[in-house]
Amino acid sequence: RIAGPCALVMFGVTGDLATKKLMPAIYDLANRGLLPPGFALVGFARRDWATEDFAEVVHNAVKANARTPFREEVWKQLSEGIRFVAGELDDDAAFDRLKQTIQELDEARGTGGNHAFYLSIPPGLFPAVVGQLRSHGMSETTTSSWSRVVIEKPFGHDLRSAQELNEVVSTAFPSSSVFRIDHYLGKETVQNLLALRFANQMFEPVWNNNYVDHVQITMAEDIGIGGRAGYFDGIGAARDVIQNHLLQLLALTAMEEPTSFEARQLRAEKQKVLAAARPPERLDLYTARGRYAAAWAGGEKVGGYLDEPRIPPDSTTETYAAIRVDIDNRRWAGVPFYLRTGKRMPRRVTEIALGFKQAPHLPFAKTDTAELGYNALVLRIQPDEGVTLRFGAKVPGTQMEIREVNMDFAYGGSFTESSPEAYERLILDVLLGDPPLFPQHEEVELSWQILDPILDYWASLGTPPEDYEAGTWGPASADEMLARDGFAWRRP
Ligand code: BG6
Repeated sequence: RIAGPCALVMFGVTGDLATKKLMPAIYDLANRGLLPPGFALVGFARRDWATEDFAEVVHNAVKANARTPFREEVWKQLSEGIRFVAGELDDDAAFDRLKQTIQELDEARGTGGNHAFYLSIPPGLFPAVVGQLRSHGMSETTTSSWSRVVIEKPFGHDLRSAQELNEVVSTAFPSSSVFRIDHYLGKETVQNLLALRFANQMFEPVWNNNYVDHVQITMAEDIGIGGRAGYFDGIGAARDVIQNHLLQLLALTAMEEPTSFEARQLRAEKQKVLAAARPPERLDLYTARGRYAAAWAGGEKVGGYLDEPRIPPDSTTETYAAIRVDIDNRRWAGVPFYLRTGKRMPRRVTEIALGFKQAPHLPFAKTDTAELGYNALVLRIQPDEGVTLRFGAKVPGTQMEIREVNMDFAYGGSFTESSPEAYERLILDVLLGDPPLFPQHEEVELSWQILDPILDYWASLGTPPEDYEAGTWGPASADEMLARDGFAWRRP
């Protein structure tokens, strides 16, 4: 699957995402031979740069963050297709120049009118860009060429703003030309969830409320918010990753089998299950939010959230969020899904864990099964990508003593192929026009519908989130939330 001739136009080229992920991913794709020889990359920004300055930014980003080795001949070919257009978003003349630039590239590089516009900018700026692209005739897909728009999250702040955003985008681009990036869907291990469930016969029969008694979806990070105060404060952990990454993981875990992996079928199944998912009735008991406080973590003193640069002292933004979600359908009725995410946790780990019911009868003495625990199937999304099955085994010896053990599949141990970075996969899919891994606006809105009541409830409290020490697994209320149902959070 090699992309056909095209140009990628990037807005937001000075941002973190562009230099850390997007530019390196483009180079890696070129290096793997997945971009056409005439590929073009156009940067658009307010900076007073010439094309050479932009090319140098890309070069530095590639050198610092690309995953594949730097090869002079690959860079040379890529850099010949780089252009920069300087201008303000409300400046018509700048968009005239942009149009002229991509038309020249269509000739010079053979990109033939195929253009993807990557909006790596705050959503508040979407209307301006989308409006300009439309009024300058750059948003149309014709029989011989395509125009696509790529949108980064946050997809709004709540349901209403998400709907407004969608209206703005749809004035210029039909939904088939809109690619919303949720980079978790670009991860190999997330796609492997579909392989595990639907390429095998042995898991699906137990994948329901007859056998599963609860599901835990965890996305923990050991880092704090770093230099992202401007983005993060006021947004918080739930909007940042539960609305998108974690609810997408929930959808893939809980959905029915799609008839094929075509976008329409896959999205339809995700939508169905998201529509059946609901927030807890008792928001006070089944949601928890926290904020990291200064502590000693990993041998050094780590500041709290309020000590981070540019965080206002009266901030009420959460850096940890945990919620219970219930799914009202036959397969999942009565099985709570617990979702949690946090910054400054003990380690970076994302996993989906299905906890199974106890065997209905144990023909062993109580003392023999004291360490039995419960059966679990854990999909390790990252790091240590793989799958773990946890079950009870006999402890060697003359007694019939049972203890829980793990059986592991590790990607690194079974495959020699290297995994492409999520952004590589997704950018390539945009250029190929392959939509299954991109959530549609219906899914985005359904996710907000689940989260909105929780966010409103938290806002109504008017209090700051509960403190947890940096380097720990979150606030006490999150532990109480699971204990109430007879469970405990995993400590991966
Ligand atoms: C982003 C969030 O979507 O995902 C960040 O905005 C978070 O806050 C990041 O750090 C984590 O991504 P990954 O791929 O490292 O798990």
